[in-house]
Amino acid sequence: MEILITGGAGFLGARLARQLLRRNTLSGPDGAQQTISRIRLLDVVPASGFNDPRIEVVTGDIADPALIARCLTPATQSVFHLAAVVSGQAEADFDLGMRINLDATRHLLERCRANGNRPRVVLTSSVAVFGGEMPPRVLDSTSVTPQSSYGTQKAIGELLVNDFSRKGFIDGRALRMPTVSVRPGAPNKAASSFASGIIREPLNGLQAICPVAPETPMWLVSPRMAISHLIHGHDIDGAGLAFTRTLNVPGLSITVKDMVDALENVAGRKTVDRIQWQPDPAIMRIVNSWPGDFLTARAEQLGFQSELGFADIIRAYIDDELGGAIKA
Ligand SMILES: NC(=O)c1ccc[n+]([C@@H]2O[C@H](COP(=O)([O-])OP(=O)(O)OC[C@H]3O[C@@H](n4cnc5c(N)ncnc54)[C@H](O)[C@@H]3O)[C@@H](O)[C@H]2O)c1
Repeated sequence: MEILITGGAGFLGARLARQLLRRNTLSGPDGAQQTISRIRLLDVVPASGFNDPRIEVVTGDIADPALIARCLTPATQSVFHLAAVVSGQAEADFDLGMRINLDATRHLLERCRANGNRPRVVLTSSVAVFGGEMPPRVLDSTSVTPQSSYGTQKAIGELLVNDFSRKGFIDGRALRMPTVSVRPGAPNKAASSFASGIIREPLNGLQAICPVAPETPMWLVSPRMAISHLIHGHDIDGAGLAFTRTLNVPGLSITVKDMVDALENVAGRKTVDRIQWQPDPAIMRIVNSWPGDFLTARAEQLGFQSELGFADIIRAYIDDELGGAIKA
């Protein structure tokens, strides 16, 4: 089977590709596992570090219809649509966010429709579809009230995936992913970038700035579990999703203080002292609009796994990214 991953050079896209190569199978249209013959990684920057004949790297803009027609053909049975302009950037550049997160998503779905083969499509949505006055726990059915352009673009993407599925053009799933932490590498322009930075930088012997208050609620998932959710979300039977293709997937409800306490438990006081608390009103306005607690019973009934504790997530980061050692 042929798979397209948009945003295939990104953090989750590249990890997903590696995990799919290891598995070598994915659900086909009839639900039976099929052998993966090709994974096309489409991104504005070239995906690197792959040396596998099943991988095809395509570099270009997802908003280019000719490129999408080339990458998404009637032979493409599965699409993981991960390419996006992240929250802080979509807020700073309204036109760019609308073009990439909304217009290109609609165009990609239209290409699926034109191909006529009803591919499985996984869209990565976000907690940013919620905001403002929220109930103590968010349900799948809680009204979407985004307080950012990024959240609005993701919410519209969810609705499009639902309607294209209802019409039989795609077999879609829109997964509301918690903020992924601990993300390796450099900080990015997501408003939530600190959620990894306050753990990652101190563990690497560097200073980190925390731009939000300790009591800020967060909804987190580890990189390992995020990839597991994407693959499971792809493989479940679309018929089981009934009236909505949108799902809150399991994560961890935790405050920033709880995160820092877990870091201290795992790595000690000296590591935690590398965090400086410097409130940033622009980041606080976006992050404080996101709810921090979700009811994910529906996803759990559909077989999505529960997340570990945050200390275990930090230990997994130390094992996976630091070879088991913390910088003193
Ligand atoms: N990481 C998280 O915490 C998180 C949480 C919720 C949802 N998500 C969503 O998951 C998806 C993947 O997130 P990520 O953390 O891997 O982000 P990322 O920024 O690492 O990856 C996104 C990729 O999209 C690519 N891209 C941007 N504009 C493009 C364009 N015009 N054409 C082609 N490619 C383009 C980028 O180059 C990047 O490689 C995104 O849709 C994001 O909104 C992520």
